[in-house]
Amino acid sequence: MEEEISVLPKHVGFIMDGNGRWAKARNKPRTFGHQKGADVIYEIVSACFNRGIEAVSLYAFSTENWSRPREEIDKIFDLLRRFLKKYSATLLREKIRLIISGDLSALPDGLREECERRIGETKAFSSHTLNIAINYGSRAEILRAVNLLKGREGEVGEEEFSSCLYTAGLPDVDLVVRTSGEQRLSNFFLWQCAYSEFYFTEVLWPDFHEKQLTDALVWFSRRKRRFGGV
Ligand code: IPE
Ligand code: IPE
Ligand code: MG
Repeated sequence: MEEEISVLPKHVGFIMDGNGRWAKARNKPRTFGHQKGADVIYEIVSACFNRGIEAVSLYAFSTENWSRPREEIDKIFDLLRRFLKKYSATLLREKIRLIISGDLSALPDGLREECERRIGETKAFSSHTLNIAINYGSRAEILRAVNLLKGREGEVGEEEFSSCLYTAGLPDVDLVVRTSGEQRLSNFFLWQCAYSEFYFTEVLWPDFHEKQLTDALVWFSRRKRRFGGV
């Protein structure tokens, strides 16, 4: 299958969905699904970078996810903190730059500090970027950019606007992968996905492994991207 991937995306976004349903199908609490979902994240991230993809964005917690039970929210934050701690040495060894998209100020101190530490340690790396969207919503991100630009004189161009987004300097998202059968964006990188290809799979996130990634990349490499041309 490998040889069928003739064109690679530069930037892949994953909407990691279906953890709750994965757990429910096993009569387990939703938090168990989040645990299993967290366990597969690095396998996918490293497979992407090993194949030569430059940037990976992961949707981990949306601005809308605050409406979930507090216990579930706390579990997700705890898993993210553990994930960053567990892979801190790997990020340095593999020269992966970490950025976080989203408002960190609303996060628990431990998670915010872990994010800030790993962002600081990896900021000089440039060949691979891992972008984790935490407390992220695309509308909030766009409004934040508008507010950053407020008071500035003259017209704002696309490039300048892009530089005020969390993803400043990253290529646009070429491929969005959403697991669990839902076919929607749920406030994920609206600006950056203007010309993305969208790959939807019924597979639930905890079951998404390298084989499923390969399927998505093969599918992507068969797309005819026209960007408005002919
Ligand atoms: C995605 O899985 C993870 C987060 C939103 C944090 P869900 O928790 O949304 O799982 P489902 O969609 O309820 O199955
Ligand atoms: C999107 O999943 C957010 C993340 C994966 C973090 P949701 O499960 O929150 O999205 P909806 O509610 O199905 O749109
Ligand atoms: Mg969901």
